[in-house]
Amino acid sequence: MQDRYGHRISYLRVSITDRCNERCTYCMPQELQEWLPREGILTFEETLRLIRIAADLGVSKVRITGGEPLTRRDVITFIRKIPEIPGIKSIGLSTNGTLLAREIGSDTSMAAALRHAGVQSVNVSLDTLDRDVYSNITGRDFFDQVLRGIDAAIGAGFDQIKLNTVLMCGRNEDQLIPLVEFAGERNLILRFIEMMPVSTTDVLDEHNFMSVFEAKKLIESCYGNLIPETEFRTNGPATYYQIPGRGQRIGFIGAMTNLHFCESCNKLRLTCDGKLRPCLGSYLEFDIMKPLRAGASDEELKQFFLNVVERKPEQHDFRDNYQPNRKMIAIGG
Ligand code: 5AD
Ligand code: SF4
Repeated sequence: MQDRYGHRISYLRVSITDRCNERCTYCMPQELQEWLPREGILTFEETLRLIRIAADLGVSKVRITGGEPLTRRDVITFIRKIPEIPGIKSIGLSTNGTLLAREIGSDTSMAAALRHAGVQSVNVSLDTLDRDVYSNITGRDFFDQVLRGIDAAIGAGFDQIKLNTVLMCGRNEDQLIPLVEFAGERNLILRFIEMMPVSTTDVLDEHNFMSVFEAKKLIESCYGNLIPETEFRTNGPATYYQIPGRGQRIGFIGAMTNLHFCESCNKLRLTCDGKLRPCLGSYLEFDIMKPLRAGASDEELKQFFLNVVERKPEQHDFRDNYQPNRKMIAIGG
């Protein structure tokens, strides 16, 4: 699948729930939250069918997201079926890490079960190593649980574990160096993400926004000039660097300030309520649940995918004061 701007679509992000056990300020509105009703969520069978159709069209990588994907029941049974889909070569999962260490059978952690089910790469959100700040940002006192989750993920032997840190001025700039140390000690890839305006609350303003440029400067003042790793890419739009003399890799996701951010976009998103979104930072979304539940054939659904790709914008609208009408949590980071 290729769009009008030459983006080749090979990557599908699949949100399987709008629910979460945390309340990150930049993701969830503070007001009382209404979850989507169960019948408004794609069943796992429906989701697997859509992944299969996407795979027929050239998608080879999927990433499972939420909300918090590990809060959904039977998530392991679902994930186990994804590697059986012809064409899918890589399965990732994005999680807040709170449930990775949970025992889900005799002597089996959630992390080990995910690995066993075929997940190769796990991204864990971690914005701070300060327990109080953690509670402050996420609304929950789950810091210790997340540390145990990260250990469980390391023990489970994933091909790749990344830590994601959303940059917040006045909140976690003093944490960047400790996070680099933390990731280095564990041989994990750490990535710093610019906050995006994806929430119903006004979380993003000129006071709390921190650019990847500032973060890079701060890190360089401690470790010296970072060495660009132009050859290294993961599935996303991060740019990677080595810390001199350490062989440690860190990444920056400059969705707001990097003007080339969207050039290599290879993604489509499927929301848990059955909308296909060609771009996170655009209002555009297309309801594929409707034709799916009305009995559309595989061919018709394929055509639906192709039409959505045809509408993929050249780049996101975040810089034009974009205020989406949906919460991040319902779209899937
Ligand atoms: N801006 C940037 N990143 C965000 N995430 C959630 N909300 C935002 C936002 N407003 C991140 C989470 C997680 C990933 C899936 O998306 O921290 O690491
Ligand atoms: Fe939950 Fe992740 Fe959103 Fe935080 S950022 S509220 S952990 S879905």
